[in-house]
Amino acid sequence: MAKFLVNGGRALEGEISVSGSKNASLPALAASLLFSDAPPLFQNLPEIEDIKRMKELLQSQKDGRFDYEVAKKIRASILAVGPALARFGRSSFPHPGGCVIGARPIDVFFDGWKAMGAIVEKTPPSGKKPGFLAVSKPGFEELGGVHSIPIYEIRAPQGLRGCDFTFRVPSVTGTEGLMMTAVLAQGRTILRNVAEEPEILSLADWLNKNGAKIGGAGTHTITIEGRGGKLLSGQVPFLAPPDRIEAGSLAILGAIAAKKMTIKNFPENELTALLGVLKTARAEFEITHHDHSLFPSITLKRATKLRAVNVQTKEYPGFATDLQAPYTVLATQAEGVSMIHETIFEGRLNYVEDLNKIGARINLCDPHRAIVHGPSNLTGWNLEGPDIRAGLAFLIAALVARGESQIGNIYQIDRGHEKIDARLRALGADIKRMEA
Ligand code: EPZ
Repeated sequence: MAKFLVNGGRALEGEISVSGSKNASLPALAASLLFSDAPPLFQNLPEIEDIKRMKELLQSQKDGRFDYEVAKKIRASILAVGPALARFGRSSFPHPGGCVIGARPIDVFFDGWKAMGAIVEKTPPSGKKPGFLAVSKPGFEELGGVHSIPIYEIRAPQGLRGCDFTFRVPSVTGTEGLMMTAVLAQGRTILRNVAEEPEILSLADWLNKNGAKIGGAGTHTITIEGRGGKLLSGQVPFLAPPDRIEAGSLAILGAIAAKKMTIKNFPENELTALLGVLKTARAEFEITHHDHSLFPSITLKRATKLRAVNVQTKEYPGFATDLQAPYTVLATQAEGVSMIHETIFEGRLNYVEDLNKIGARINLCDPHRAIVHGPSNLTGWNLEGPDIRAGLAFLIAALVARGESQIGNIYQIDRGHEKIDARLRALGADIKRMEA
């Protein structure tokens, strides 16, 4: 397994530019199934593993059936099911994989598709007993090292019709997936209690430029005028916006490790919650707007004395759950006691035990709450990132820690961050990629 070898404690200096947004690009790629044969161009996509997997998945699909081995690697595979169902009238796929940060059910998707007239079964195409895919999974040795994940078959024999559907929980990919499905349905669809993340708005804006009729994206209620099966034929390219989660994570790094670090293409307006917390924590940063660029840049210096601040993750525009792990590393460097309250996922604080191994002092009160005592001196250690964002948090911790660290399982970091080692080296970080 490839690793990063990091010598921490260096003061970072220079400029870094934010890559294209992973979570805006994935639904846009999935939406290519809504277009007649020549899908539009995609620009500024990040060169990351999840984008490669999504492209492989889309190339693997035949009449709405997806390659199970690819689909189970990323949660975003579920994004392609709605467009496939809308285009082919059917789809077959395994329960999506991706970051292990909780149970991550997909009931909202099923309930929305059923409301549009689809039939969902756990039966494999062959029609045998309920479909299960045997996959090797550590910790399932007693089952011969295999763990089975369900395969779903979904059909819309009478076509899809518009509906008035209220989300049980405002799911981001659920909003994107059902919005895309509704684009080809017959008649009007109203989706209520939906997510309001910026990635939903950028998807809707782009689809509207190519012939869709979507209103309300970015608010709690979205209305879609369905096209009755008529595919989109526009050719307006998709331009990935800057990745707000990468931008926020780099800002957190700068606040604790920079001599003087400038982040370009910084989507300030999508990071108000983080910037508010950084200001309260007395982080030292300055935002500069430029005539020549749509997005400002932010320049950060390591704060002389960071103050502990309580953080609660919330749906957008609240404090992003994807920034929770990187922020916890900052909290270990702040003076005082910080409460980290993760309200979105029940399994997204597991990484704190590993931070304690390198010198942090964090009490995990329950699956949703951690108390961080700071400041702590972090020392280099071998860490293995369990998911994209905790993996990056460990990298941030290694850059701050004294001595040498080895970060394993860096595929997880490469899933969400393009050439992150080369980009950090350009800032003076002592980081090497050791191939397996
Ligand atoms: C998206 O995941 C993002 N992924 C996640 O980023 C992000 O953490 C999450 O939204 C929350 O902001 C992509 O956009 C590809 P949800 P998603 O459905 O859509 C529950 C990263 O690192 N829920 O909004 O899967 C769910 O369990 C990733 O880039 C149901 O109960 O998240 C969770 O508690 C990690 N039933 C809550 O909703 C459902 O059918 C929010 O999840 C769907 C979700």
